[in-house]
Amino acid sequence: MTDRPTVLSGIQPSGDLHLGNYLGAVRHWVAGQELSDSLFCIVNLHAITVSQPPEELRQKTVELAAMYMACGIDPKTSLIFVQSEVPAHAELAWLLTCMTPMGWLERMTQYKDKTAGKRGERLGAGILMYPVLMAADILLYQADEVPVGDDQRQHLELARDLAMRFNHAFGDTFTVPTARIPPPEAGGRIMSLVNPEQKMSKSQPEGCVFLNDPPELTRRKIMRAQTDSAASFSLAQAGPGIRNLLGIYSGVTSMSFADAVSLFEGKGYGAIKASVADAVVAAVAPIQEAYRALMAEPEALEEMLRAGAQRARERADATLAVAYDNTGLLPPKSKWQGNG
Ligand code: AMP
Ligand code: TRP
Repeated sequence: MTDRPTVLSGIQPSGDLHLGNYLGAVRHWVAGQELSDSLFCIVNLHAITVSQPPEELRQKTVELAAMYMACGIDPKTSLIFVQSEVPAHAELAWLLTCMTPMGWLERMTQYKDKTAGKRGERLGAGILMYPVLMAADILLYQADEVPVGDDQRQHLELARDLAMRFNHAFGDTFTVPTARIPPPEAGGRIMSLVNPEQKMSKSQPEGCVFLNDPPELTRRKIMRAQTDSAASFSLAQAGPGIRNLLGIYSGVTSMSFADAVSLFEGKGYGAIKASVADAVVAAVAPIQEAYRALMAEPEALEEMLRAGAQRARERADATLAVAYDNTGLLPPKSKWQGNG
């Protein structure tokens, strides 16, 4: 299509966007969009691998689209769309499911974490199949690069393995994608403010700064962040809590981690936290303002998503037709109707 790399990524509309999502993923999507053929998906089929109240899911889907744009994704440059509006995702996922060894899926760390100590009777099978659907998302658009946070590394490996397995079995069909994961200190892994041994996640809201949190709440969360007991900062002795705060500072100010370290060397933890809080509040303020303006015009958002889905369907259907054909399935129906 073009000589620019095709970039694809996605986030589940199962909660609000937080600093981990922003620094680990979205910020890098924004930075790269001019130089690539970018597609950003709202992966609602992934979200329903755990039960979601329908009205809330609908609302969060539109909110996430607004958030993508508020963070700087430009729908004129990049394609923004909702996964469920492109049926090829579910269709290709089935083809891939049939050629994915169960052992590969059972070995996924996220699957093991999410199912640990739970009885099979209470778990939907979607949790096991999750990475296969993710591979379908990526392979359908022949993505060259997938910018994600560090926690998605293993899922990306699986997508690569599946692309190679399919190509080997049925002939060249899919581009083998590359993961683009920022180094940990550049946002690849933002840790929880209340427990810096764990990644920042919406499931632990006290340790998580949501992009839409009011400034006072953001300040409070950061001022209470758990750190070691040193009085002042020195990199050699710094524990994970204070390092994480410096990582956040460097992310939101676009200062290198090394420069942030020099800036704060010898400073007291209270003062550092206040600077980090100021920087975060300043960085999210324009995002919040843009978000409010976008949410005030729901028809424009819906129109943008409709157009995005249309373009995504055309691209995805073209790949799906080849995958069907190579597998020995009859061609998808657009061909039967003579217009594909
Ligand atoms: P999720 O919220 O799990 O749908 O994740 C969406 C994107 O944000 C993925 O690319 C994740 O890798 C990334 N992400 C989520 N949490 C973090 C975190 N704490 N640090 C860095 N990246 C993250
Ligand atoms: N599994 C990813 C996450 O939780 C979301 C996702 C689904 C994704 N499909 C994708 C990310 C395709 C990148 C590309 O963060």
